[in-house]
Amino acid sequence: MESCFKDFDLLCRMIRAFSYTLVMENICHIILKNIVHILKADSGSIFFLNQNQELEMFVSTTELMIRKPSAYCDHSADNPACGTGFKMNEGIVGWVAAHKEPLKLDNAPEDKRYLFFGNKKKDMRHKSILCLPLINKEEMLKGVINLSKKKTGFFKDEHIKMLEPVMLQFTDAIENIQRYQEIQSRAKQITVGALRSLTIAIEEKDMYTRGHSKRVARYAVTLARAAARRYGFRRLDLENIEVASLLHDIGKIGVPENILNKKGPLKEDEWDLIRQHPEKGARIVEPVQSLKVVEIIRQHHERLDGSGYPFGLKREDILLEAKILAIADSYDAMTSNRSYRERFTKAKAAGILLESVGTLYDADLVRLFLGRLKVEGEDF
Ligand SMILES: [Fe+2]
Repeated sequence: MESCFKDFDLLCRMIRAFSYTLVMENICHIILKNIVHILKADSGSIFFLNQNQELEMFVSTTELMIRKPSAYCDHSADNPACGTGFKMNEGIVGWVAAHKEPLKLDNAPEDKRYLFFGNKKKDMRHKSILCLPLINKEEMLKGVINLSKKKTGFFKDEHIKMLEPVMLQFTDAIENIQRYQEIQSRAKQITVGALRSLTIAIEEKDMYTRGHSKRVARYAVTLARAAARRYGFRRLDLENIEVASLLHDIGKIGVPENILNKKGPLKEDEWDLIRQHPEKGARIVEPVQSLKVVEIIRQHHERLDGSGYPFGLKREDILLEAKILAIADSYDAMTSNRSYRERFTKAKAAGILLESVGTLYDADLVRLFLGRLKVEGEDF
């Protein structure tokens, strides 16, 4: 009886937690950790239904997993199922999603819906499985929770009954967070759009930089994607890099047109004005952008050896994202015409980047960048 009260108390605490956070990862971790604890399960995972009507693993008790949908459900002969994504009716998770009903199996490996991943012998230890659909009030499927007991004991029918109201509240909470995320993303699009208009207006003042920020964003995202595996960037970091790249020269609004378009060498006081544009840009976007975007813009002219501006930051003091933007920005500037010079060939620009690794640019990033451009057909 006492244990029953304890379980009930835990369930109530879980439901209360839904109103404390709007972070999807946190809420999923709370629910999963507690359910695994209450049911004495060995492991658990939460899958969400994506736009392609496939189930993607979002969290598991062993690690937080956030992957791009394209990384899932490509179960060709070369890419066998790995347990992190299921199509409708595929495996136990897919069956529960398709039928929208819970499934409890006492000896799952004997069931024909059970899929083996990796080491078959090891998988045989998954004896008892409890898989529950996440369905909202309109009877729409949102995802699936999958729990397993590998060592001792079995799940019971009463567990399904006990979890029913929690699953309903949980699905409600998921939908609220998704709605909140959509509103946030729309608001972000509007502010980025407004700032983009300003950047385009600045580029229009200088015929040589027309389209520059758009191309820089494309180069920076290409490099960031290539670096993502190495540095573990998440989706948000890529977004920050893209937004910062699109807006990086917004501070040039404070630089007079005659300086931007000057054909000859700049005087020292004119250079002073140019050197202020990263700081001015950071201040312009500060009220409406994340701290990360602001800092990337502020640091986009910093160089490894401290010869950059505005602060002369060195090596580790420069954000990785700003190092990425610096390479993309320099490459596009070199391969575009300027008022004071003809554009360099791509091979020459690549050579200059390579000559400057370790002093101006990060060596790994430059190699990744040039390698990626080659793969994408850039002709050096
Ligand atoms: Fe700049």
